[in-house]
Amino acid sequence: MSTRNTGTPTPAASAPESPEADPRARAFAAAHPVRPVPAQGLVETAPISATPASDGLDALWKAVVHETRTRGNDIHLPISMAYAERLCRAYPSADAELVLVSVLLHDTGWAHVDESRIISEGFAGDWRKAAIRYEHEQQGCEVARRVLPGLGYGAGFIERVCEIIDGHDTRPVAYSLEDALMRDADRLWRFDQAGIALASSWFAMDPAAYTDRLAVEIVPELITQAAVDMATADLSRSNALLKTGVLR
Ligand SMILES: [Fe+2]
Ligand SMILES: [Fe+2]
Repeated sequence: MSTRNTGTPTPAASAPESPEADPRARAFAAAHPVRPVPAQGLVETAPISATPASDGLDALWKAVVHETRTRGNDIHLPISMAYAERLCRAYPSADAELVLVSVLLHDTGWAHVDESRIISEGFAGDWRKAAIRYEHEQQGCEVARRVLPGLGYGAGFIERVCEIIDGHDTRPVAYSLEDALMRDADRLWRFDQAGIALASSWFAMDPAAYTDRLAVEIVPELITQAAVDMATADLSRSNALLKTGVLR
């Protein structure tokens, strides 16, 4: 049974039942048969605070200040953007503007769903399949369609952004390299100390249990080798800093 909000038609809404069978997923898999996808350029693994995002997207940030005040987005989104810029430097063949705009907007939909359900449904049980997760993806697309036209983005670009936002948490496969980089940036912030501090509380886990989960569950989900290298370096630093080997 589908729990997807069908209020707004999106490209993914007409996708086949099996996400892996979608032509976009098959094309991406065929173009990148080696996983994790090898880096094309330099991979930076220094602490992320050394390279804050210099995205040139201040007008877009300003347009979604309200949306950054929910669910730690004002921490999650800027840090994820810094990782996204690094990933775009490691994969220069990707459309960096598409990746960055998608990362900036991907979770803005959390500001337009029932906040009381974010923790109770969004981070408990089979949280990836929770209805609230589909809703935040759909609402994120609504935000993109509301704010991007006035900033000069064309309809085709906006739909490509929505194609990435729609399903970013709930669809098991990526449709493009840009989609993959957005997904990896969305995961990488959790390996930084700020991400561990915030996200471990969402999942009601102590830092040691949470970093164990990052290693076992999240690292294998990363699509690109650059992201694996960054995550591994961050996790090692964070475990040492937070003394997770002792405080368990
Ligand atoms: Fe999300
Ligand atoms: Fe996110």
